[in-house]
Amino acid sequence: RLHMRGRGSPVKCLQRLDTFLLRSIGTNVVAAQEKDGPKSLYAVQTERQEQAERSVLVSCNSRTTEKKFLKYLSRHGDIKKHFFYESYGIYAVVEFANRESITSLLERAAIPHNSPNQQFGQQCQPQTTPPINELIQRLSKEESIDQQIISLTEAYQLTEENSRLRFLVCSLLKDIAAAYFPECTIRPFGSSVNGFGKLGCDLDMFLDLDGISGRNLKMPKSGLSLEYQMKRANSERAVTQSILSVIGECVEQFGAGCVGVQKILNARCPLVRFAHQPSGFQCDLTANNRVAMKSTELLYLYGELDQRVRCLVFTVRCWARAHGITSSIPGAWITNFSLTVMVLFFLQKRSPPIIPTLDQLRDLAGPADKSVIEGNDCTFVSDFSKIPLHSNTETLEELLHGFFEFYSTFAFSRMSINIRKGKEQNKPEVAPLHIQNPFETSLNVSKNVNATQLDRFVALCQESAWLFQQIETNTPRGLGGNDTSTPWGLASILLPLNVAGVKSRKKKRHEPASERIKSLLESLKNKNHQKKS
Ligand code: CTP
Ligand code: MG
Repeated sequence: RLHMRGRGSPVKCLQRLDTFLLRSIGTNVVAAQEKDGPKSLYAVQTERQEQAERSVLVSCNSRTTEKKFLKYLSRHGDIKKHFFYESYGIYAVVEFANRESITSLLERAAIPHNSPNQQFGQQCQPQTTPPINELIQRLSKEESIDQQIISLTEAYQLTEENSRLRFLVCSLLKDIAAAYFPECTIRPFGSSVNGFGKLGCDLDMFLDLDGISGRNLKMPKSGLSLEYQMKRANSERAVTQSILSVIGECVEQFGAGCVGVQKILNARCPLVRFAHQPSGFQCDLTANNRVAMKSTELLYLYGELDQRVRCLVFTVRCWARAHGITSSIPGAWITNFSLTVMVLFFLQKRSPPIIPTLDQLRDLAGPADKSVIEGNDCTFVSDFSKIPLHSNTETLEELLHGFFEFYSTFAFSRMSINIRKGKEQNKPEVAPLHIQNPFETSLNVSKNVNATQLDRFVALCQESAWLFQQIETNTPRGLGGNDTSTPWGLASILLPLNVAGVKSRKKKRHEPASERIKSLLESLKNKNHQKKS
């Protein structure tokens, strides 16, 4: 079952079409695509995983046309969907109706020639977001701030194709991990699946070994249980580290297109990090990370409850990135995850609230929803229809403005942000920014953030809130008909120079009256002088 790819891989030749087949495996169950109400994350994941197992990732280096390519592949069975994209060359994702097609195709896989293919290039699906300047131009043409926020969300969110590619990469890695753990699964978590992922975001995965018999069985309690549990806790971590270590080795040796493999085993949550070149994804593989899966599920649920949630999160994340509040380099910056929790908290604090608190979601849970992971209560309702929603009718524009105002004056020095209670709590420990982890309640999600970064965030909120109130910012340019390209509304708040400029403008206004009179006198003196001479 292990298709070793890359160095020393037993790849067979395909004479007709010199296409390099990177993976495949599968079953033939086809999930229905009905659209009645939000699906649970579990249902979405099951469907996507199954789809990935009937799919292949193909490097299209041959001089052939799309028609010939499809004609050839369809000899192996019905093709349900396909698309092309570019990442260090042109690739195709092809989904077959049945797994047998993949077995048949694999028999004939071949090594590619290095001849870039122009024909496929034209129909490539973009897998990254548009550059910020392009986005600003696009937004400037919209007629309302609400429409700008929707347009930003549409440009940034994961596409159907990108989402498939993420599950396909998990499935490829599973093939490698299956050499050691035949019954394992590799699941994506974090922004790849929680509804808040932007094109180009990293791919967080976790190795799920629960299918393997004997693991996670409850041990009988004894008088020595405390000592035993401590030992067990230590060794659990050691086991996770060694599992990741061997899998990291396999990824490095046999993972086709996996480069820059780093084993970061001493982190709080040990992981293997690498880049998967054929997809262009930066990948983080963890093991034994069930709580993160729960927080992914929770974020997904919040995103599905009200469509304003996702729109605001995308906008705030984009705004933060544009101003260097978040960064792709790890450090003292606020992370996207922290920002998301801050948006959720703000939405819980509206009146009436737009989303319920985590405690309310826990109280609505049925017996089947009960979940305790490593002593943490992760229980919350899974049936969306049980969740009562309030009739808050605020617009996206009002909410975005409200977000900036809310955090402009939030008592960060004393209070902790808490989405479980939906109410700020006294800080349990010293940290510039304290955001309680919703499930591991003793942890601070934003422990890494220093005072400078928090101050920058607050200053930017204040400046953006101020800009929002200015007529020149909130008047649509497109309507006058003469100047559709000047940034306005959200577009002008995304412009780095615009917001940075507010500081100096504000300073000018607040300089003491004596200073202003002095400079007025100076200018009069100069004028008189000019007249005389
Ligand atoms: N996570 C957490 N506590 C943290 C950081 C992360 O519980 N301090 C969990 C969250 O469930 C988060 C996931 O790990 O969604 C992945 O973390 P990360 O990749 O940092 O965040 P994403 O939500 O995936 O956002 P991004 O798009 O920036 O990757
Ligand atoms: Mg992530």
